[in-house]
Amino acid sequence: MKPVTKAILPVAGLGTRFLPATKAIPKEMLPIIDKPLLQYAVEEALEIGIKEIIFITSHAKKAIKRHFLQNTDLEDSLVKNGKEDFIESINPKRFKDIKFTFVDQDEQKGLGHAISLAEPFLDKDDEAVAILLPDDLFIANGKSCLQTLYDLYKETSNSVIAINEVAENKLSNYGVIDASKISRSTFQIHGIIEKPKLKDAPSNMAVCGRYILSRSIFKSLNNIEPGAGGELQLTDAIKDLLVSEKVIASSYKGQKFDCGSKQGFVEATIFLALANKDINKDILKSIQELIN
Ligand code: UTP
Repeated sequence: MKPVTKAILPVAGLGTRFLPATKAIPKEMLPIIDKPLLQYAVEEALEIGIKEIIFITSHAKKAIKRHFLQNTDLEDSLVKNGKEDFIESINPKRFKDIKFTFVDQDEQKGLGHAISLAEPFLDKDDEAVAILLPDDLFIANGKSCLQTLYDLYKETSNSVIAINEVAENKLSNYGVIDASKISRSTFQIHGIIEKPKLKDAPSNMAVCGRYILSRSIFKSLNNIEPGAGGELQLTDAIKDLLVSEKVIASSYKGQKFDCGSKQGFVEATIFLALANKDINKDILKSIQELIN
């Protein structure tokens, strides 16, 4: 089996839930403490040995490209001002041999459409790709979410997607699976539905934004019609894939924040602030003062 070396990160969405902040700044560039949200997902991808990150972006999001390309002017200024220590933070060693590819999605026709635009950038012999939705921020206590999926992919050669249990009143925001148990944390998927009404939800297990998908997903993406919200949905392509291939779900037990929502974004900020040794004592004190 060929290692998975390419990861697709769709970041062309409009980020309407964060307007007006996202009028000029891409949602994915909003910082959680001192790092753009998007960088957390990039780092998670690199941990499994990804060599090329394919961003599906839009012409309005130039800041994303600027963030991942080298900025020699800034580096020179840092050196001149005796602030070399910051160079690693703007040009990390782990990015050195990574190819960053930027593909414009001209019209926001949905996540499925965004992913389909990456196909021409795959090598002929790529058997599978990783997909990470940067809105979903995972803080691993041990193995990362994507690494867990990749280990299962290497073991089974099947497509693997991450799921977690979601409260009933939130199920209609997600793709929801119909599945049977394989082990304590893995399931075989039999069906999948995007943003179901509560009465149609086949379970309380919702897809969260990490996937290792077989290359056949691109064929399935060609087979689908606009679905929920009038958009081309990745979930519908996975449903199509299920006709010919096995897809496994892996439930993720670590911390997960939906940073596409205001609540999740603030919770992630608080969680990471309390985990940061430089600031956590003062932050905790401030929070305690605020609630008392
Ligand atoms: P969302 O619908 O959650 O993100 O799409 P959004 O559109 O940016 O946010 P709101 O709802 O307007 O606030 C999930 C992921 O799919 C990407 C988004 O960038 C996000 O990473 N996406 C969605 C695209 O790249 N293209 C699309 O056409 C739609």
